[in-house]
Amino acid sequence: MTHAVLSALGLSGQESGTYLGHGEWSQTRDAGVIEPVNPGNGEVLGKVYASSQSDYDTIVERAQAAFKVWRSTPAPRRGEAIRLCADALRTHKDALGSLVALEMGKSKPEGDGEVQEMIDIGEFAVGLSRQLYGLTMHSERPGHRMYEQYHPLGIVGIISAFNFPVAVWAWNAFVAGVCGDICIWKPSPKTPLSAIASMKICNEALRKGGFPDIFFLFNDGGTDLAQAFVDDKRIPLISFTGSTKVGRHVGERVARRMGRSLLELGGNNAMIVDATADLKLAIPAIVFGAVGTAGQRCTSTRRAFIHESIFDDVLAKLVAGYKQVEKKIGDPTDPANLMGPLNSKDGVQAYLDAVKKAQAAGGKVETGGAALDRPGNFVLPTIITGLKNSDEIVQHETFAPILYVMPYSDLDEAIAMQNDVPQGLSSAIFTQNLKAAEQFLAAWGSDCGIANVNIGTSGAEIGGAFGGEKETGGGRESGSDAWKVYMRRQTNTINYSDALPLAQGIKFDL
Ligand code: UN1
Repeated sequence: MTHAVLSALGLSGQESGTYLGHGEWSQTRDAGVIEPVNPGNGEVLGKVYASSQSDYDTIVERAQAAFKVWRSTPAPRRGEAIRLCADALRTHKDALGSLVALEMGKSKPEGDGEVQEMIDIGEFAVGLSRQLYGLTMHSERPGHRMYEQYHPLGIVGIISAFNFPVAVWAWNAFVAGVCGDICIWKPSPKTPLSAIASMKICNEALRKGGFPDIFFLFNDGGTDLAQAFVDDKRIPLISFTGSTKVGRHVGERVARRMGRSLLELGGNNAMIVDATADLKLAIPAIVFGAVGTAGQRCTSTRRAFIHESIFDDVLAKLVAGYKQVEKKIGDPTDPANLMGPLNSKDGVQAYLDAVKKAQAAGGKVETGGAALDRPGNFVLPTIITGLKNSDEIVQHETFAPILYVMPYSDLDEAIAMQNDVPQGLSSAIFTQNLKAAEQFLAAWGSDCGIANVNIGTSGAEIGGAFGGEKETGGGRESGSDAWKVYMRRQTNTINYSDALPLAQGIKFDL
């Protein structure tokens, strides 16, 4: 299986982790080796040779040179380059989706879905390449014209996480690409093969289409290169997806050098189910939100607030749903399975620690609560009741399929609890009551970057801006006008009169 998937993507399993541009992969073999593991069975999937300092220097120099060409290429022409990438990904969707499932551990349909997300953002970016609009303003001075325009920013650094090993790169790289930027990618050390495969697919499509290198890749054997990357003044924007702990560090360091950062950090997403909710929709939405990707999405549902009048019924239905999922835990590449393993042994330990802490705080495990005794990092999806929203473990994002279910009596209380966590990414309400839905979406409602009605917290479409508030980091990427972060805005005033009037009516007669 592994061999067939790798060879369908032109990989041997012994890979250079550095794309240097000019069609060249680095020959460096002495800067460390990364060995990604199949989380479904513990087998090593391949060897990736990490990048050296000199590889990094070459990449940044070549990216700087590439930027000079790319920034003056018309944006719709840049869109054509991204269209070729999206087309090539369409051709390789099945194989790349399987590699994502093998290396990250998400189910095959979700792996394919992730590649679909790359294709979708590619197509979005093609349209966007003709819509990088600025505004025209009316000048207060006669014979003057004022407008704003958006110019390419430069080199964009992308640091991505293991849980969306390819889509998050595409959200950034395809949009930044049409904006005229050059991207340098440092993927998670847990999923380097998916990154290398994506780069091969896209860079080959670009070369065949006669386009220059706009995407570069390095893999860090330790953390020195990643630190240098974050501190590098030649990189005006660092887009970081990962934990709040590391994101805080990245944000502070980039701010110190007056760079821009786009942070997509942790979530602690909640679902409110009121007494009018259609449970035919709410139950599967909660189950998918909490156990999809084995709870390793930043948008995973981690808390559910259920109206007290339906609490027992909803809990029983959720437990029954979880028992169905339990029967379909296994090899993520088998499309019949609904849930794969956690990505790492550390993830399993964090899951077990969280269950223990929850129990110590008085929580009751309604279902799940244990790791499976078989090869791979499999755990049972878990529901815990009896905790308060303010309990430390409930306030914390554990990247695993653990759902805390709590009753509430009135909507204001539920909204207050849903907001009362450090994170602010995604949220949802299930209700058929118009007033409740609108209250949830009002300025005094959900404080999250994403707020949904009658759909779950995860699985956002690429067309909207994706990101969240508070400790989620405040960044927005993907759709809507998220492209603006990848460009620099310039305000232009042009005087076509024969006089030199000053703004604010100031007189300055020589
Ligand atoms: C993430 O978990 O880092 O909304 C991104 C979703 C996906 C993206 C999640 N489209 O669940």
